[in-house]
Amino acid sequence: MKVYPNVLCESGMVDQEKLTYHFQERGLQFGDGIYEVIRVYSGKYYLLEEHIDRMYRSAQAIKLRLPFQKKELYEKLDYLLDVNNIKTDVKVYLQATRGSALRDHVFPDVEANFYAYVQDMPRPEALLSTGVSAITLPDTRWQNCYIKSLNLLPNVLAKQEAKENGAFEAILHRDQTITECSASNVYLVKDNNVYTHPETNQILHGCVRSRIKILAAEANIPFYEEAFTLEQLQNADEVFLTSSTAEVMPIIEIDGKPVNGKTPGKVTRELQKAYQRDAHLIDTPNVQSTSH
Ligand SMILES: Cc1ncc(COP(=O)(O)O)c(C=O)c1O
Repeated sequence: MKVYPNVLCESGMVDQEKLTYHFQERGLQFGDGIYEVIRVYSGKYYLLEEHIDRMYRSAQAIKLRLPFQKKELYEKLDYLLDVNNIKTDVKVYLQATRGSALRDHVFPDVEANFYAYVQDMPRPEALLSTGVSAITLPDTRWQNCYIKSLNLLPNVLAKQEAKENGAFEAILHRDQTITECSASNVYLVKDNNVYTHPETNQILHGCVRSRIKILAAEANIPFYEEAFTLEQLQNADEVFLTSSTAEVMPIIEIDGKPVNGKTPGKVTRELQKAYQRDAHLIDTPNVQSTSH
């Protein structure tokens, strides 16, 4: 995999090889930090504002002071792509922790550690075409899943369990109510209506999720932010998930049982197309998008 050497830190641009952190680092000790993953297509950010807004919301929720004002961060993130000469499909990973200090649960009086780097991220075109399988698992996460916290152990374990079962994702439920997946939001389609969990503290408020809500409205597809049960999931006409790296991904099998005859459904396909038009991945005849 190609290495993009220039990493944006709180102090400026640093060569990846020269980047070192003290072993007494709050992210390592406590997972005391937040992060973001932003999609870049052909060298251009997609849904940048949504991600930056969410990062500041997460920071505020954990009382973390980020080293940059928003405007400054936008400029630095543009420079990050320029200085690494990015023209292709990549992702930018951003992380901020409560700094480096002697281990103590109480907040230290030090500045946050921050970095943002670039990594290649080709689109998952084959899977977008065929769809993927998923398993269902109890949601064992904390009560503040709207914070994009570095504490991802339950998500890591769920995703690993999916992998060990030959599946792409784990769909999580709290007492039979579906929340989201280990690293994506989840939707079911019934009678051409789309349902997904409302934006409460039980799910991450996905940037693609909020975009899909708008795109569904534009396409006259009824979109309901209503929680659904495991049983309703099992009886869905179609199921799909969304995230910045998986886009609009059809789920064609759940716990070994086929969904929609193991083929991506009509509504899912329509929303996939709408996403691709919005992100300028396919042509948009006579329509102007405002997403970049
Ligand atoms: C738990 C969880 N839910 C949902 C999402 C989707 O968020 P987004 O659409 O902003 O990428 C992610 C993305 O990483 C996630 O980790």
